[in-house]
This record gives sequence, C-alpha cells and structure tokens, in this order.
Amino acid sequence: MNLATPYLGLELRNPLIASSSSQNGDIDHLRRLDDAGIGAVVLPSVFQEQLEAQQSDFESLLAQQPNHSPEAESYLPPIDSGPYGLGPEHHLALVMRAKRELSVPVIASLNGSSLSGWTRYAALLEEAGADALELNIYFVPVDIEEPGTAVEQRYLDVLGAVRQTVKIPVAVKMPPYFSSVGHMAKRLVEAGADGLVLFNRYLQPDINLTRMELSSELVLSRPGEMRLPLMWTALLAGRIEASLAASTGVENVDQVLKYLLAGADTVMLAAAILRHGPTYVRTLLEDLEAWLESRRLESLAQIRGNMSWSRLKKHDNYIRANYLHLLETFTSAHNA
Ligand SMILES: Cc1cc2nc3c(=O)[nH]c(=O)nc-3n(C[C@H](O)[C@H](O)[C@H](O)COP(=O)(O)O)c2cc1C
Repeated sequence: MNLATPYLGLELRNPLIASSSSQNGDIDHLRRLDDAGIGAVVLPSVFQEQLEAQQSDFESLLAQQPNHSPEAESYLPPIDSGPYGLGPEHHLALVMRAKRELSVPVIASLNGSSLSGWTRYAALLEEAGADALELNIYFVPVDIEEPGTAVEQRYLDVLGAVRQTVKIPVAVKMPPYFSSVGHMAKRLVEAGADGLVLFNRYLQPDINLTRMELSSELVLSRPGEMRLPLMWTALLAGRIEASLAASTGVENVDQVLKYLLAGADTVMLAAAILRHGPTYVRTLLEDLEAWLESRRLESLAQIRGNMSWSRLKKHDNYIRANYLHLLETFTSAHNA
C-alpha cells in the first residue's frame, strides 16, 4: 500500500504526524513513534517567553553562529524535566539528537506572539538540523482598539522575519479566528509559508464556580472538535499553493480518513497519542490500509481531496444555504 505523502517539500512515508507536544521532548518517546511508523514528528515548541527570559544564553548562541553549540549534544534534556523549562541550547540538542536517531523528518516548532529578536532562534534550529519549522503565532487580541488588519499584519510580520532567517520550509500553525480565514491563509502563503496547519487549538479559560476563579486546565480534544478544521481543509485544498496539515480531534481512523478526503496532505495528532501511547500510530496505519484495501484502493491519492470544495460540484453543505435546510429538517423531525 502506498501511503507516501509529500509535506512541505519533504517526502513522508505516510500522512501521520505527531503534533507538537511535551511528550515529543523525550527521545525515547520519539523513537517509539518512529518504530510505530509515524510519518514525521514536530518537537515541543520553543517559546518566545523562554528565549526572552534566557536572553543572554540565546545571544551567546547567536554570537557563536555558525559553530554555536559544539557541546550542545552532550546537554541532552533530562527525561524528568519538561521541555518547556529547558533553555535555548537544550532544544538545539533535542533537534540534533532527534535527527541522529530518527528515520523520519524532524520539524522544530517556534511559538511566539509578537515581532522581536526571538525569531532569530529559527536560524539556530535550522543549523541544528531541523528539516522544517512550524511557526505557532499564538496571541489573543485583547486590545479592542487593535483592528483586524493590525492583527493580521502581526502574523505576516512574524512570518516574514522567520522566513528571512531560514531556508528550510516553514509551516504556520494558524488560528481559525480571522474574519476571512481563506484570504488570510492565502496571504500567509504569499508571505512565504510553505504549509499551513489547520488549526492551532487555543486553550480558552473556564470559570470554576466553587472557587469563583478562572481556571485554565488543559482538556484534551474530542473528535467533535474536528468540524472547523475539516471544513477549512476542504475549502482550501487545491486552492492555495501550500501543504495542508489538518489538526485537532483525531481519535481513530475515521477522523484521519475524513481529513484526507477533505484534502489534507497530512494529519496531525497529539491527544490520541497521549491517550493510547505511541504504538497506537501502528493501529491507525493498519486501519487506514485496511479501509483502503476494503475499497480496492492502492494509494491515498485516490481519496485525497475527493470531498474538497474544489472537487465537489455541489457546495450546499459548505455554505449558508444549508443552514436553513438543516433547521427545517431538524424541526420537522422533532415535531413528527
Ligand atoms: C500536552 C500538550 C502539549 C502541547 N504542546 C504544544 C506545543 O509545545 N506547541 C504547539 O504548537 N502545540 C502544542 N500542543 C497542541 C497540539 O500540538 C495540538 O495542536 C492540539 O493538541 C490539538 O491536536 P489533538 O486534537 O490531536 O490533540 C500541545 C498539546 C498537548 C495536549
């Protein structure tokens, strides 16, 4: 069965990618994902806050460029310390070690919210051997004086700064909160994004009624959350010149298939690996092959994008017209 998948100009053995997560900071975990057949891995993000808090370490690494970290590989991240507490040099060591020990592409991840010097860290990740970079521009536009155009420009500026720094492919993990998601996707691609991850999953706070305070617990996704990225994957597939990675809500092969049918090049998963462990990747791949075999299909190309906007002749289900129809059907079914 041919599951080979191009993503960001890289050749993946299959479309499954381990999404950026803290677990991916552990080299043993990464090795298990590789053994289970994962197509590529995204390392835990290096955060703007980390780089700014450890400015002097970061500056001295930059100053030593191109031979910035001759000893970096010996500073391997201890298994018991989380990746987000580690300094700039440790992340480079993780990239180097992952590159040395894994058979699949290693994508580094940078996470920040505004344009400043931290974006220069991208060059160090490239030099450490990252095959590609995922850029997660995560911020909540709380300033109600800031217009949407300024918010959009911020994304483009940060991407532009990173793009100027590296030659490796860059994917933007974008949020779904733009007034014109498709147009923003197009502008990101025009500004140099080789791929888009649809979407970044923002962690909105809840209110704890007992303690009468805000709570920010990390709740893992459920498949129901895939509808928004599924829709935008389908709307954008074949219409922009970039790879598309669908992300959020993958629990079993059904979600993988839906994302591929919508037109995703690759499908990312974090929660499913956390819930079931890295060997679950093997199960997903077997289930994917079994599904294709049961329909006498030989490659993913035969299904990829078949449900996308650009392939379908009827678009009712993707646009507003369908809303009224659904309400009518629902109401008559419940009144019957
Ligand atoms: C424990 C944990 C750690 C995560 N760390 C990162 C991170 O460092 N950078 C990032 O861009 N996303 C991070 N994410 C978000 C995931 O990459 C992914 O976008 C999100 O979990 C939705 O995918 P899922 O439904 O497959 O879990 C993290 C998610 C979890 C659960």
